[in-house]
Amino acid sequence: MALTFHPSREAIELALEKMKDDGLVHPDAAFNEDAPDGLRREVAHRDPYFAYRLGRTSLETGIVDSALELLKREGHVPVSADYDRLAVDAHRARLKDKFEGSWTSLSPTMERLMYMLTSVRRPAHLLELGSFWGYTLGWFAGPCIGPNRAYAAERIIGIDVDADMVKKARANFKKLENVSEVELIAEDARTALDHIEGPFDFVYIEAKYENRAIAEAEAAGETSELGPVSGLYLILLKQIYDRLPEGAWVMAHDNLDWTARKQLAPYVAFVRDKAHFRESICFDIDDCGMELSIR
Ligand SMILES: C[S@@+](CC[C@H](N)C(=O)[O-])C[C@H]1O[C@@H](n2cnc3c(N)ncnc32)[C@H](O)[C@@H]1O
Repeated sequence: MALTFHPSREAIELALEKMKDDGLVHPDAAFNEDAPDGLRREVAHRDPYFAYRLGRTSLETGIVDSALELLKREGHVPVSADYDRLAVDAHRARLKDKFEGSWTSLSPTMERLMYMLTSVRRPAHLLELGSFWGYTLGWFAGPCIGPNRAYAAERIIGIDVDADMVKKARANFKKLENVSEVELIAEDARTALDHIEGPFDFVYIEAKYENRAIAEAEAAGETSELGPVSGLYLILLKQIYDRLPEGAWVMAHDNLDWTARKQLAPYVAFVRDKAHFRESICFDIDDCGMELSIR
């Protein structure tokens, strides 16, 4: 099965008002709920200017509350599942204060969604592929690190091929409390995964090439036994698939990012196939999006 979660009508209207304020659409523009994917003449869910503002909204907490309700309704978490809303604000302030890095594409709503998902799933073995300078891992593992963590995980592993970024990530995590479970590996995930044992009950995939790098890699004929490098998310998922126990969650960022969609298309088709995952939910909450697949 495949589901799409959309924020409330109120959040949609607020993001649209911001677009009008910023002069990006005509003051009379209206949101067309039924517009087909990618339509730009009206404001649709896939308008990047709209989606960017949707992810940066005062209704952030309400949107994530609704996402949690969806997970409960579909039976993916117990009805009693909840997360500490105030802890998110404290965690945000802490990361802002302590972490140093370059850019990030995580919207505030996405940060809160990630924090909520880990809180309610409570994985023991967290794995992030493409952990960059640690910011995304800081959110993915948010409830299991820091001075007031909600619980302790057994392993929190981040892998990135960029050794300089991994160095930065190590320095960042060193500044936080309760991080002894965090292991940051500087290696191509395709080889690193050969020497890391499962199980993994929550995996976050973020490892991808920027488009110019893909063009160069493909021009150089770089392929793996599973296909060309542009399908890296799927290559990595297939590598770890047997280490995902029943009920494991796999999250993939950027499934809705226009610049990454082509790269991610084979991945999305794979996870939405019921033969591979019993459910896959697209969180259409900002310009990047998140696909959560449940084994
Ligand atoms: C676009 S960045 C992630 C940035 C993140 N979205 C953020 O906003 O903080 C993608 C990361 O994947 C990493 N990456 C690319 N190919 C990889 C591979 N084969 N193994 C591990 N990491 C890889 C890159 O080094 C880069 O740090």
